[in-house]
Amino acid sequence: MTDFGDVIFSAKNEVLKSNSIESLEKIKVKYFGKNGLINNEMKKLSSLDAEGKQTIGKQLNLFKREFSELILERKDFLRKKEIENKIKAEFSDPTMPTRQNILNLGRVHPITQTIEEIVAILGSMGLRYVEGPDVEDDFHNFTALNIPENHPAREMHDTFYIGSKEDKKNVLRTHTSPVQIRSLKDSNLPIKIFAPGRTYRCDSDITHTPMFHQVEGLIVDKDLSFSNLKWFITQFCHIFFNKKDLKLRFRPSFFPFTEPSAEVDINCFRKNNKIYLGEGDDWMEILGCGMVHPNVFKACNLENKETSGFAFGVGIERLCMLKYGMPDLRDFFDNDLRWLNHYGFSFFNYPDLNWE
Ligand code: PHE
Repeated sequence: MTDFGDVIFSAKNEVLKSNSIESLEKIKVKYFGKNGLINNEMKKLSSLDAEGKQTIGKQLNLFKREFSELILERKDFLRKKEIENKIKAEFSDPTMPTRQNILNLGRVHPITQTIEEIVAILGSMGLRYVEGPDVEDDFHNFTALNIPENHPAREMHDTFYIGSKEDKKNVLRTHTSPVQIRSLKDSNLPIKIFAPGRTYRCDSDITHTPMFHQVEGLIVDKDLSFSNLKWFITQFCHIFFNKKDLKLRFRPSFFPFTEPSAEVDINCFRKNNKIYLGEGDDWMEILGCGMVHPNVFKACNLENKETSGFAFGVGIERLCMLKYGMPDLRDFFDNDLRWLNHYGFSFFNYPDLNWE
């Protein structure tokens, strides 16, 4: 018969020396497994007399109980140790200062920053952010916007056609206004959306680039008037430029998809090749706007007489140049790192807007 004193001693020692949950499992199997030591000893009991059965049986049971408790305790201990080690390895000190060069590694492009500012303002004014595709079909970019085929108004846009010039089915959108059509067709009233994005015109000089950005705004409900439009645009500009007394000029204009239509200029002056906001007697056009034309509602099956709305389209580069005093539109797309370092924004520069 095995000497239990020795077995118990070495078994306990093995458990206390085990350094991982896996090795502990192996020890458990060695003693408690089907062919483990305890099972084998149990089998031998049958060959003993009654007294032997009783003493050895008792010892075995006691060992079983103590040993499984010991294993559980060790398991608990090892698990805690594992967690402690993991925490130690993953420790980072959040009070450490950031590495200086991280702030200078890259810059947010002024267009991205301006779009984020616009998103913050229009979002807070209750408008929903939506997007439309850059490649549009003729219906959304022109026809539904009251610019039928062969209408002279199409000449206002120097369009990039996709595919053959003859079929003229798809275009690179010449403005963000097609998103108006998508929203009018897809949403229930009231509609309050804005859609920033890229737009394209086959045009390139000091004040035009073939790709530029616009943001479209559309509000459709009942009983909206031109005063609502004026209030909205003025409010937006005052917040965007952070100037409560900024002067705006609403000039009568023409867009096929709005009636009446207006262009909005902002008061500025230019000195040493730079643009300054407010004061002076110069004006710079920043947006087009107007009351949604009945034909646009008709094209979107919204011919209810009570339905009215206004829309506006803003040039994002213009807004950005005016706000941050940039002289030349073409710099935006030159990818000159010196320009980006100078005019770009830090990642931590979250739009700081004054809502007073
Ligand atoms: N889509 C017009 C443009 O690109 C701007 C505009 C939008 C005008 C909405 C009126 C209403 O010039």
